[in-house]
Amino acid sequence: MERKGARRFQVLDLLQEEGGAAAGTAARVGAQTGVPDADVYGVSTFYSLLRKPGRRTRVCQGLTCKLAGSDARVAALRATGEEVEEVSCLGQCDRAPVGLDADHEALLWGEPGSISPADTDLPMNLAGDDDFSFSALARARELGPNAVIAELKAGGLQGRGGAGFPAHFKWNAVRTQPPGDSYVVVNADEGEPGTFKDREVMLRRPGLMLEGAAIAAYVAGAAVLFIYVRGEFKDCIRSLEGAITAAADHLDWLDIRIVEGHGAYICGEETALLEAIEGRRGMPRLKPPYPTESGLWGKSTLMNNVETLACVPSIVTRGGDWFAAQGKTEPGSKLYCVSGHVGRPGVYELPLGVTLDELVEAAGGYVGTPQAFSPGGASSGFLPMSFRDTPLDFGGLVKAGSMFGSSGLVVLNDTIDMAMAARHGLVFFEDESCGQCTPCRVGCVVQRQSLDRYLETGDASHLEHAEDVAWEMDEGSICGLGMVASWPLTTAMKHFPAAFEDRTIDE
Ligand SMILES: Cc1cc2nc3c(=O)[nH]c(=O)nc-3n(C[C@H](O)[C@H](O)[C@H](O)COP(=O)(O)O)c2cc1C
Ligand code: SF4
Repeated sequence: MERKGARRFQVLDLLQEEGGAAAGTAARVGAQTGVPDADVYGVSTFYSLLRKPGRRTRVCQGLTCKLAGSDARVAALRATGEEVEEVSCLGQCDRAPVGLDADHEALLWGEPGSISPADTDLPMNLAGDDDFSFSALARARELGPNAVIAELKAGGLQGRGGAGFPAHFKWNAVRTQPPGDSYVVVNADEGEPGTFKDREVMLRRPGLMLEGAAIAAYVAGAAVLFIYVRGEFKDCIRSLEGAITAAADHLDWLDIRIVEGHGAYICGEETALLEAIEGRRGMPRLKPPYPTESGLWGKSTLMNNVETLACVPSIVTRGGDWFAAQGKTEPGSKLYCVSGHVGRPGVYELPLGVTLDELVEAAGGYVGTPQAFSPGGASSGFLPMSFRDTPLDFGGLVKAGSMFGSSGLVVLNDTIDMAMAARHGLVFFEDESCGQCTPCRVGCVVQRQSLDRYLETGDASHLEHAEDVAWEMDEGSICGLGMVASWPLTTAMKHFPAAFEDRTIDE
């Protein structure tokens, strides 16, 4: 359908309607939006759900899906003549193995994941029900913006999207903008392998997240709220649409727009996400300026993760001190995702700072003899079991030479070849680098090639080269992806040296 007068921010949706990067699409979308055809084509080739025209089944190649037999699924589907694309993590590690059908609906072949039991004393209480009373929003209005920010500060809420940045700082920075001159954006692009907590918040407590986002918009004086949802999470999009309808009486002052992602892990990075909303390739911007100063279309923008916002209603109604006391070593409760070799993979709301053993006990215990764990998804690399008593929090994991990230814990038992687990992480980053800066674009390839060459030849100089390149990636990359893309290899080499001795590749 031709939409004359469509604008750049509609480029991605129009591309989806028109069939992605198929022949002639760029010209049609260009004609509708006034964006040059070559530019539109560049956008279409950036996003994995648009890049290859045609309908196909996509099968997840994330580490937990591999462990759960995704290769056999691919072979079985191909044997029936189906066209299959192998793709990076689909954010369903608790239900592995998984795929997406041609309409991008999730195909869940594994058992459903577990959720921590309902408990009204938990700040998020994932297994509870949304009541859509929006009493926390009413309370926020009674308190006023400055008092809400003071409660966030007392609650010590750290951003749950990966960096752990104190929420009250960002809220305060946006608060000082002229009214109506700012945006609030919910980062619901959850793409870190091993992480699926935001998915569960959107499915089970969409009203809670929406209320937290509405409080953020009230405090920021924003009239427009964007929710950028991972395109592979169609069921979350439907759940959010239902919640927006159910909450309509409370939110008539707020223009809420759901923006669907089109398949690019890097769009979880906040400035890449802004580029995607604006209708461009999702390439991170140089910072500063930070989004709070210059975000969407150059306006001050408050962006928070789904879980961060889902913490806000209980902080407003029960107070920052109450929330802070829910934590063990750092403030608050936390939605921990756990998958891999554990009895009941799933999402567990526990005090921030539990240990791996405490988390895995809640998740049905270890399967087999545990060897390693990834505390914060692929970006955090691997730790050996000697770190099993380390608090799983932002500070504790930095001290351990890793990071908490978005708390997607993957447990690996001693049947796993750690060199191949490392290679798997490298392949993920090689696929997902946006390619904008040289240390990351080239470094990701060199890392994987160096490991392959070592595994083929046994020549240790290839691993030394990989370590030199890792330093350059860390120092010279624009965004966090390039800075951690070498970690799967460097941490595996450091903690599991035996896995790299005397061997040849066995794919
Ligand atoms: C490569 C990369 C991927 C990221 N992916 C996500 C993501 O999927 N979801 C998310 O909330 N934050 C993600 N982040 C962090 C965001 O850039 C940003 O810090 C976050 O949305 C801020 O919200 P918070 O303060 O509530 O955590 C990612 C960062 C990087 C570098
Ligand atoms: S570090 Fe990698 S992902 Fe980040 S901007 Fe550079 S090339 Fe892109």
